[in-house]
Amino acid sequence: MAIDALKSLEEQGLAELRDAVDEAALRGWNTRYFGEKGLMKSALAELGKMPKDQRAAYGQEANRVKVALESAYESALADAKERALQASLNAEPLDVTLPGRSAPRGRVHPATRALRQITGIFADMGFRVYRTRDVETDENNFELLNMPPHHPARDMWDTFFTTTPGVVLRTHTSPGQIHVMRESAPNPVRVILPGMCYRYEAITPRSEIQFYQVEGLVIGEGVTMADLKGTITSFARRMFGPDRQVRIRSSYFPFTEPSIEVDIDWPKDDPNRDRLTKGTRWLEIMGAGMVHPSVLRNGGYDPAKVTGFAFGMGPQRMLMLQHAIDDIRLFWQNDLRFLRQF
Ligand code: PHE
Repeated sequence: MAIDALKSLEEQGLAELRDAVDEAALRGWNTRYFGEKGLMKSALAELGKMPKDQRAAYGQEANRVKVALESAYESALADAKERALQASLNAEPLDVTLPGRSAPRGRVHPATRALRQITGIFADMGFRVYRTRDVETDENNFELLNMPPHHPARDMWDTFFTTTPGVVLRTHTSPGQIHVMRESAPNPVRVILPGMCYRYEAITPRSEIQFYQVEGLVIGEGVTMADLKGTITSFARRMFGPDRQVRIRSSYFPFTEPSIEVDIDWPKDDPNRDRLTKGTRWLEIMGAGMVHPSVLRNGGYDPAKVTGFAFGMGPQRMLMLQHAIDDIRLFWQNDLRFLRQF
């Protein structure tokens, strides 16, 4: 008797499924049969009221009907979804051959790219990259680099002073030398220090108030000027081409002794050569020298035991040379017409 009721529940359910026209109707059917108060649920509840001897047969049949209805529902639902998709494809045809709308692609800033290239070359030579602060003490930026207050050499760096006495925006990356030495002494050092520097200058096509520098510092027993020259030459050849010649001129910095300036010869076949080198064929790429004994001492080293060399260069200046960029202000103006060329 009760088993017959299960049979007709199944037939009725299947018939109603066939009549359900769309997904919404199917979901309604599902609630009616399998919801909290659904027909299937109450049919299963009957089990508890059955005499013991009929329970097994009823339970088995109820289960079969439940599974049959469930699987019929799933396949009806899948069919309905497929029909709806086809209908919408037919109604609003989609031309898959049209070119897509591409998302704008970003790129690395040319100055960052130059920094990475430089870092890569020095990394190959065993240099570590060391970052130090942009806001410095007057002591690190000047005094410990051999420039006491009122030293005339301070005029080489037009300085931004902060409202806190004794605190400046670093005018060069050289104060990083002090940080590295004090952290490393008495061990040998081989690092580069890339970073932003700030100078209180009128902004012109040739000078900006902020720009990158890459400092280099090597300290150890028996480090000589020949090591400096070899390091710079192999750097220049990888950066500017394998045939580059390096020329060294004597110069002056308070924190190196002797101090030099480094030029490279510019390729003959570059039509810009005369303009870039002002007719001399040589182009200045960095300042450098042997670390001054008092600077070594300030960093915690004994100048009787170790020597060192340091150099400082402007990656943006190098980029300007390589790409004939004639205005340094272009770097931080965020003009996409400029940036997209790199
Ligand atoms: N700090 C110097 C400058 O800003 C460059 C330099 C670095 C020179 C290291 C010698 C040694 O001009």
